[in-house]
Amino acid sequence: MTCAMVIGTGHCVPERVVTNRDLMQWMDTSDEWIVERTGIRERRWISPGTTLDDLAAGAARMALQDAGLAAEELDLIICATLNPDCFFPGNGVLLQHALGARTVGALDIRNQCTGFVYGLATAAAHIKAGLARTVLVVGTEIHSTSLDLSDRGRDIAVLFGDGAGAAVLRAGEGGGDVLASVLHSQGEFARELWCELPSGSQPGRITAAQIAEGRHYPHMNGRAVYTHAVRRFCEAIQEVLDAGGVAKQDVKLVIPHQANLRITEAVTKRFDLAPEQVFSNIQRYGNTTAASIPIALSEAVREGRLARGDLLVLVAFGSGFTWGANLIRW
Ligand code: COA
Repeated sequence: MTCAMVIGTGHCVPERVVTNRDLMQWMDTSDEWIVERTGIRERRWISPGTTLDDLAAGAARMALQDAGLAAEELDLIICATLNPDCFFPGNGVLLQHALGARTVGALDIRNQCTGFVYGLATAAAHIKAGLARTVLVVGTEIHSTSLDLSDRGRDIAVLFGDGAGAAVLRAGEGGGDVLASVLHSQGEFARELWCELPSGSQPGRITAAQIAEGRHYPHMNGRAVYTHAVRRFCEAIQEVLDAGGVAKQDVKLVIPHQANLRITEAVTKRFDLAPEQVFSNIQRYGNTTAASIPIALSEAVREGRLARGDLLVLVAFGSGFTWGANLIRW
């Protein structure tokens, strides 16, 4: 049976570091409040002129180099983001052009923090069905341009950062594989974490009055997100382990979406994982939504946290609500 092996990873984050103390020039917050509730100490923000595709292409080129492949060898490009450069077209085609890839399919995934998990599941399914041999999956985000830096938006503004991560998957006959994936959604909670405007259903899409009200900024019910996230992270991990017939003690590493260190710690405790089984880098990058798992994966590989043959779980929860997990033999 055909396997879908991850053969390369990469990431790209902007050089500009924004610390919690830096945020205090715009809003009433403190390093203590942010660290205590989220674990975040700093995040990366783009400088003017950098596009979502600059980050995506940077991560993709690193992953292709890691895989020893040229962009022309890609059969499919999957690009996950909640912050596209423009309303349409999606960022997948811009990435195809930036990489100089052939005119292969470019699929956009709009599942926010769960985008990379959805993308990896889709890539593996294409490979296993014989529709593609080599697939690039990228998660890329620029949040810094869409944050309300006043006190009104401080609950969200302190959480998010910019960056991109990527993985290249290739068909093989043995060795590494995406063993199982589980995907979920629950749209009844769409408004608990969303960016309402501009809206395709509203004539003119947005008004000056709505902008003044801040309705073009992301909004979140933090407590509801926290509660659902802990529950769904645990459920998704168990479900994907069951689907793969694997026990949790056999898992070398869990890379959770980097939503909040408190959420990760609660999941680690509730799911009874050892601290060394769980990867965190939110302290340095904040929450980069679709980019957080592939950035963490790329760093985990370079830190030597994974060896070929190890079992890896990627798990995410986010706006939608959406959640899901991948079980990977590295
Ligand atoms: N700095 C300082 N104070 C802040 C603040 C900030 N950045 N943001 C909010 N506050 C204030 C609130 O206004 C509130 O003040 P009040 O008590 O005077 O009304 C107080 O801090 C407590 O707010 P609350 O919302 O109860 O805090 P919390 O303990 O629930 O923590 C979050 C807030 C956002 C950290 C927490 O709800 C959370 O982590 N939620 C999940 C978020 C997440 O992971 N989102 C992404 C999912 S993919």
